[in-house]
Amino acid sequence: MIYLNGKFMPIEEACIPVLDRGFIFGDGIYEVIPAYSRKPFRLPKHLNRLQHSLDGIRLKNPFSNDEWKNLLEQVIAKSDAEDQYLYLHITRGVAKRDHAFPVNVPPTVFIMSNPLLPPPAELLASGASAITAIDNRWIRCDVKAISLLPNVLLRQLAVDVHALETILIRDGFLTEGAASNIFVVKNGVLLAPPKSNLMLPGITYDVVLELAAANKIPHEIREITEAEVRTADEILLTSSTKEIMPIASLDNQPVGQGKPGPLFARLHALYQDYKA
Ligand code: PDD
Repeated sequence: MIYLNGKFMPIEEACIPVLDRGFIFGDGIYEVIPAYSRKPFRLPKHLNRLQHSLDGIRLKNPFSNDEWKNLLEQVIAKSDAEDQYLYLHITRGVAKRDHAFPVNVPPTVFIMSNPLLPPPAELLASGASAITAIDNRWIRCDVKAISLLPNVLLRQLAVDVHALETILIRDGFLTEGAASNIFVVKNGVLLAPPKSNLMLPGITYDVVLELAAANKIPHEIREITEAEVRTADEILLTSSTKEIMPIASLDNQPVGQGKPGPLFARLHALYQDYKA
């Protein structure tokens, strides 16, 4: 069952008018929230980021955090899987096509849940492959906007060559992945690009940095050059749906030893404990 504008219904019955501004302009934002054993993971952080995205597009939050929590719990209860990921989507509603914001139009609110499967064990054991590309997105990548055409095109570059992700470089520096955050390990130090308008402030990114701090893993938040990405000992990818994954090849070259490294193993184990 999905939630759409105040009602629960099977997804096959859910319909959006063609004049919805999400459809016409990509005028909306979204969130992806994992739920382990039917409990939303880091819900207050996700709701904070939802508010940041809404503020970024000047759209009023239709619900209080308690109302969101209640709705999400209902969606979780109506879904079969123990581990799920919730997709929340809010658009500026339905109005005659005009770029200017419509007045007094209710937003469209959609929530669905899908089973959350851990990344395949073989991929965690062997490491995934990634490619690089120039980050050609807009400069409000901190807003989780539904207008994802650049991300879609960038991710497809990876899919075309059977790689998992496209790692983005802007003006010679690492930003993030097409749908993930990226960390680099160099000489035993975990390096993370600083949050800015050029990347999505990942909730999993925060978890990894907190785990590093709590477990005395050397880490540094600073700009990472393209050259540092190319000569990394390890590259790690994080997202709510992929958790933490090792990248073992980049642009067809091995990363470090060409297999998952010790910091990946450590952080992956810590993450599994933390989410349990
Ligand atoms: N994407 N950067 C981008 C561009 C992303 O799309 C995502 C997540 C992340 C990681 O953020 P988090 O750890 O909060 O999931 C970083 C989601 C999963 C998606 O679009 O499906």
